[in-house]
Amino acid sequence: MKILIKNGRVITATDDYFADVLVDGEKISQIGQSLSDPADKVIDAAGKLVVPGGIDAHTHLDMPFGGTTSADDFESGTQAAAFGGTTTLIDFAIQTKGQSTLAGLETWHRKAEGKAAIDYGFHMIVTDMADERLPEMGRLADEGVTSYKLFMAYPGVLYVDDGTLYRTFRQAGENGTRICMHAENGIVIDEIVKAAIKDGKTEPKHHATTRPTRMEAEGVYRAISIAEVANVPLYIVHLSCADALEEVKRGRARGVDVMCETCPQYLFLDDSYYEREGMEGAKWVMTPALRHKSNQDVLWKGLALGHIGNVATDHCPFCFKGQKELGSGDFRKIPNGAPGVENRMSLMYHGAVVQRRLGLNRWVEITSTAAAKTFGMFPKKGTIAVGSDADIVVFDPNRKETISVNNPFTHHMRVDYSAYEGFQIQGFSDVVLSRGRVMVEGGKLATTGGGRFIKRARAGELLR
Ligand code: URP
Ligand code: ZN
Ligand code: ZN
Repeated sequence: MKILIKNGRVITATDDYFADVLVDGEKISQIGQSLSDPADKVIDAAGKLVVPGGIDAHTHLDMPFGGTTSADDFESGTQAAAFGGTTTLIDFAIQTKGQSTLAGLETWHRKAEGKAAIDYGFHMIVTDMADERLPEMGRLADEGVTSYKLFMAYPGVLYVDDGTLYRTFRQAGENGTRICMHAENGIVIDEIVKAAIKDGKTEPKHHATTRPTRMEAEGVYRAISIAEVANVPLYIVHLSCADALEEVKRGRARGVDVMCETCPQYLFLDDSYYEREGMEGAKWVMTPALRHKSNQDVLWKGLALGHIGNVATDHCPFCFKGQKELGSGDFRKIPNGAPGVENRMSLMYHGAVVQRRLGLNRWVEITSTAAAKTFGMFPKKGTIAVGSDADIVVFDPNRKETISVNNPFTHHMRVDYSAYEGFQIQGFSDVVLSRGRVMVEGGKLATTGGGRFIKRARAGELLR
């Protein structure tokens, strides 16, 4: 199948020009002026942007967590992603404590295979790492799982101690792979939480009041220090606040290989959402918690100056009815996480380009190219170039929509609320191609299934 995308404005992380793009099978085969090759389908992209498909490097699909399971599985989550212009996800497989990481990987392959509509990779969440298990990490890398996530938060669930951090960091460094870190001092936070509950502070807002930004900053500082000694590239996930960013800047200034991602929720939402009536605030109970509004400008500036290198969603949806409600009367029981995989590209276009904080190239970089480069998928993914996968979004920079759970154009996630309800946003995807297949066109899903697992390269290596 050949598809010719005509008359569009091609934007990559570095380029901006008008051209036609020819897709032959799964790949981009030609880029040029007035291409006239015969094609099975022609897409007129006049007035539109032609950009690489978005890459969301942080999702939790079909994940058991907080006594329930995240509401999107690999079918609904990847379809919603495609509607929003995202054509690659990196989800988190989990090692069950005491069991093999390879068994965890197998479980996540079974969840995704045959269901995913777009391509996907896995990070591995490490929940323990006895010495005798260390060789498994090399086998995971050979299988294309070249990054690991560890948690300083959630004691008794996903938390690991500093010794485990160091052992895993060192092995990851030796294998040429990358560490992703949930950096928050969960042990101290648990003490603050205990005291709050004792004082009768049980409403959703106390999820936030018990998680000071300083405890995130301390986690970031500690993770960077351990990574520096263990000699491993570090990626801080879901960085939420100025205090934590300051530690990243300090580490980078002294030459540590550390970068960080933030998420749309920390750029667009703030802790006033927890003040809503009754249990309503539970919709935004996530970790780290939403912060004071003053942090938002600092994060946007971090993106502009390059201190923050990527934007992912941490999409971890739980329905309000029946899931978030589990924490009625005790905020500790609210499953942590919020939906967003479908909204990232548009929110970031609006906040970056429409609101003039960042340029078009940087928008593409932080929503696609940076993730491809950081996580061993470039130049197969993350750019518009001859030979790259035809993961292409024809993006309408002028289309305006109000994001709502009730807007069939903005909500395909299997969750009964939108974290961005009522946001008036400009810039939406029009046609979405995943490896040369038309996934979305005219607001309709054109293809189901067909997503493939991506065997990612090691840190800094190319993937073709
Ligand atoms: O609240 C969140 N972020 N839930 C997902 C798990 C995590 O920490 O990323
Ligand atoms: Zn996390
Ligand atoms: Zn997460």
